[in-house]
Amino acid sequence: MIDKNYILTREDRRGALILVLLFSVTGSSWGKHPCAPRFDSAISKGHADWLTDHCEAKLSTFHLICSGGFHDKWDTGSEGVRILTLCRWPDKTIDPEEILQKFPSLQSLIILDSDLTHLKNPFPSNATELQSVKFNGTKLEVLPNDAFSQLPSLRILDLRHNSLSLMNEHALMAPSIQEVYLMGNEWKCVSEMSWILNMENDSVASRVVDRDKLMCSVPYYDRPLVPVVEIITELEEECLKTDCQCVLSYVGRRTLGAANQKELMAFASVNCSSRGLTEMPDFLPKNTSTLYLSKNQIHDLTPLLKNPIYKEVIDIYLDDNNIESISLLEGSYWLDHFRALSLRGNRLTDLPPYALENALQQNGHAASIFLGKNPWRCDCHFTPGFQDLLSRHPSLFKDVNEITCSKVENDENSEKTIRELSRTAICTSPADEYWLQPLDILNVVLASMIIFVLGKLLYDYWTFKRTGKLPWIVAKIP
Ligand SMILES: *[C@@H]1O[C@H](CO)[C@@H](O)[C@H](O)[C@H]1NC(C)=O
Ligand SMILES: *[C@@H]1O[C@H](CO)[C@@H](O)[C@H](O)[C@H]1NC(C)=O
Ligand SMILES: *[C@@H]1O[C@H](CO)[C@@H](O)[C@H](O)[C@H]1NC(C)=O
Ligand SMILES: *[C@@H]1O[C@H](CO)[C@@H](O)[C@H](O)[C@H]1NC(C)=O
Ligand SMILES: *[C@@H]1O[C@H](CO)[C@@H](O)[C@H](O)[C@H]1NC(C)=O
Repeated sequence: MIDKNYILTREDRRGALILVLLFSVTGSSWGKHPCAPRFDSAISKGHADWLTDHCEAKLSTFHLICSGGFHDKWDTGSEGVRILTLCRWPDKTIDPEEILQKFPSLQSLIILDSDLTHLKNPFPSNATELQSVKFNGTKLEVLPNDAFSQLPSLRILDLRHNSLSLMNEHALMAPSIQEVYLMGNEWKCVSEMSWILNMENDSVASRVVDRDKLMCSVPYYDRPLVPVVEIITELEEECLKTDCQCVLSYVGRRTLGAANQKELMAFASVNCSSRGLTEMPDFLPKNTSTLYLSKNQIHDLTPLLKNPIYKEVIDIYLDDNNIESISLLEGSYWLDHFRALSLRGNRLTDLPPYALENALQQNGHAASIFLGKNPWRCDCHFTPGFQDLLSRHPSLFKDVNEITCSKVENDENSEKTIRELSRTAICTSPADEYWLQPLDILNVVLASMIIFVLGKLLYDYWTFKRTGKLPWIVAKIP
């Protein structure tokens, strides 16, 4: 252990320099981590002094280590200290101005394992010697703008393993900065972080050594920050060309080939609801997979067939529009590949049940279809097939209880839930009971002709018996 009598003070700084020469070889080692872990076998071994408030100085390197704040004579500081390590800082904030006032010759400041969340002030401009600042294992959430920008000699800034989530590039700027380390924080991957993409000479991002190791927190947990921010920035740019709101809803990862390379897959959600659109948009940002088009005046679904951008759009919400038919989707690529289709509140009266059934057989990912609040036609021709379709996919048709017959005055089935209608209720509607249907007329005509022919036969037989005269037609046949 180092004798505390050799500790540096303002008065004997010069003497200490000489001492360093003498002791630099013999100085005891603190190991890699100068502060013992908080919950460690050290407690049971009785080394409780590491856990209590405590300062130790290592002369050979002008290094002072304090746990739990400054203690004893160190509370007033020292001009001699060049390296200051603070563990378990007792407050939520720390004031770099105050620390550098106490230790004006600091070259390196290291703050470890603390609950501090904020810096009270930026680093002061008269800390001209300070070359490296490190925070590791703190709860530091944000840095003030220009936190380091007044430090003329700062070269290394190590902010690994803290609680930083958002950062402005101004917070990292310093005139001579060379290396910045940022990994091990819970980065929010949002467009505010787009400065990290600027790799021009002298940019802050070009100084971030571990730029490729930065990871996103929720909602893109465990995805790399740089490509995700790249995707988001591009999405926002493309979104400006639409009248919609765009969000990157999910970033998937897919393994490529044998090299186990990971490729990111972006899924964007674009909301163009209530925009007064009369047509489906013909431009969408790249990688749009979900499109909200509710509450517009769209009636035409042809873009789903014709416009290739819609091949990737697997969820479409078209509630409250003017769509009258979806039969043009029959046999289309889109119908074989969609995941969600919502057509609530449109003007659908029927659909091709067999074509839809066929598409659902092909389509492995269809997950939800909404067809409620449409004026469905209820008759013996369309409804039974539709009922079969609904009952064969009970988990797919999400709003089956709102799929009802249209409102028709004096019709028993008016506004009834289609799934619950019985076959007889559909197939013997009053219209069917009216006897003079064309087929009925034909039947009557055929029946009367049969009666006429039989009657003629009987008459001819009777005539032949009575007079022996053959009927006129028999006489004519050779
Ligand atoms: C640094 O500046 C602060 C005021 O900004 C002052 O209080 C302090 O004494 C200065 N320290 C040195 C070493 O000049
Ligand atoms: C920072 O702290 C983490 C644990 O909190 C530790 O694993 C890592 O080695 C430390 N890094 C440095 C450079 O001190
Ligand atoms: C970046 O610096 C290199 C040399 O260091 C120079 O050749 C290049 O033109 C610079 N690029 C920009 C965009 O300033
Ligand atoms: C985005 O979509 C394009 C095709 O439009 C595809 O080539 C690209 O891989 C997709 N990008 C991501 C990140 O998913
Ligand atoms: C889409 O935007 C509209 C308003 O523009 C909003 O009311 C609606 O909740 C949004 N929908 C989704 C799914 O975000």
